[in-house]
Amino acid sequence: MTIKTVKIAPFDGQKPGTSGLRKKTRVFMQDHYLAAFVQSVFDAIGGGEGKRFVVGGDGRFFNRPAIQTILGIAAANGATEAIVGQNGLLSTPAASNLIRQNRTDGGFILSASHNPGGIDADFGVKFNAANGGPAPEGLTARIYDATRSIEGYRILAADDVDLGSVGESRLGGMTVRVVDPVADYLALMETLFDFDAIRRLFAGGFTMRFDAMHAVTGPYARAILEASLGAAAGTVVNAVPSEDFGGGHPDPNPIWAKPLMDLMMSDEAPDLGAASDGDGDRNMIVGRGAYVTPSDSLAILAANAHLAPGYKNGLAGVARSMPTSAASDKVAEKLGIASFETPTGWKFFGNLLDAGRATLCGEESAGTGSDHVREKDGLWAVLLWLNILAARGQSVARIQNAHWTEFGRNYYSRHDFEAVSQAHANALVTGVISRLDALPGQVFAGMTVERADEFAYRDPIDNSLSEHQGLRIWFAGGGRAVLRLSGTGTEGATIRLYLELYRAEGSIPGQDTAEVLEPLRQAVLELAGFARHVGRVDPDVIT
Ligand code: G1P
Ligand code: ZN
Repeated sequence: MTIKTVKIAPFDGQKPGTSGLRKKTRVFMQDHYLAAFVQSVFDAIGGGEGKRFVVGGDGRFFNRPAIQTILGIAAANGATEAIVGQNGLLSTPAASNLIRQNRTDGGFILSASHNPGGIDADFGVKFNAANGGPAPEGLTARIYDATRSIEGYRILAADDVDLGSVGESRLGGMTVRVVDPVADYLALMETLFDFDAIRRLFAGGFTMRFDAMHAVTGPYARAILEASLGAAAGTVVNAVPSEDFGGGHPDPNPIWAKPLMDLMMSDEAPDLGAASDGDGDRNMIVGRGAYVTPSDSLAILAANAHLAPGYKNGLAGVARSMPTSAASDKVAEKLGIASFETPTGWKFFGNLLDAGRATLCGEESAGTGSDHVREKDGLWAVLLWLNILAARGQSVARIQNAHWTEFGRNYYSRHDFEAVSQAHANALVTGVISRLDALPGQVFAGMTVERADEFAYRDPIDNSLSEHQGLRIWFAGGGRAVLRLSGTGTEGATIRLYLELYRAEGSIPGQDTAEVLEPLRQAVLELAGFARHVGRVDPDVIT
């Protein structure tokens, strides 16, 4: 086996976004494109000599060839070991766990998360650091710098490594260890949750549907929910990972997991419905007739986490991304623990988790997790819910209603305007930024602006400053609107509009979320000039 050095010129636009480098699959399939990025990661971390890495992905189209390329580059850069999920599969939280348990120098996770997969869909690569979490901003900046000055990459000329069976093989000077993707993750879950109590719950007739959305959590959910916890066979549906996720969006929300939502709102609903995304880090929780927003889920989990053995001593703090509703802040306040508001993206939780300042973290985009790994974790959230349901012996709806009565309710909705031209999206955002100082006191569609700012975050651990993290507008009467541009899209710009209205008295009888938020929606549409800049006021997706 020989090491080849391939001379190349830099590719434009290899800047990692909210969650790694995400592009159209065909972009990644261009000669040298993936290799250039992977070599840049090695260059940014001071080379691969003597280092060990975890490698795996969500099984989407191009997962397997991409893994072979990464293995060849790792070996040629002097890495001594690669731990790879069998058949190239690893959920993002399981990869994070393997990095931590094996104390590797980091890991490559191949996924475009909840984006569709296939040759004409999306692909992505994330590099996670030795703490198991997404590369922090400083590292992604160094990676991006490296992509702009790269002159070539090193790769081992060798046959493909067999990833189909568990065991060890050699690739040049590197050991490739193929592992069962589920085993270590299941063992970790057993340390956190009362598996016996959950077994008794299922044995007592509790019913559930878990929609794996043809993505990576299928094997995990089958092994954990059905084989270990005794949920009925068939509880996990769409359980076989497919390269194009059955042609759908593997995104666990009421839009893309509509069949599950429909079931949960019907007379045939089981006690619990849940779903996860392409790479297994997101989750959706829905009770019989009761959808739980991710923001509320974080708050309810924070209020009840002590019922699970792994959290019986309480939480150090709760962190949420800025656009996430403030429901979890109310819980933290009552528990007398810290709450943190960070920019969008899991990487911003890493320092808080490493420093032991936060135990639970969550995002409105269906991400919830804890300090057990350094990624959000879909199945973990489902298991914590199951543990709480087993301990309280109440339905999801009852727990949620009691929560709103105790803490008040944060009505919440996100509106996404997709594939907007970059110029129009920028014009809308810069238009609001230029008027931020003048907004307080102005009235839009009958609502008065109280405050407005552009969110910046000073990391309390390393003191780094992250600016331009979204626009916040507060209205008289308890409403908040947030505007920001997506950092994960692969086509044009996506404008996200987040609406939130707090009601201390809890639910308003007879009004659904859309009705409650309508005045706020009208106000911000007018304020930002959606009709003028985007040419429409109706979003593509409402979650
Ligand atoms: C989106 C979500 C964000 C999440 C990220 C990765 O990022 O909004 O909460 O961390 O996907 O899953 P965005 O496209 O908004 O930048
Ligand atoms: Zn994901």
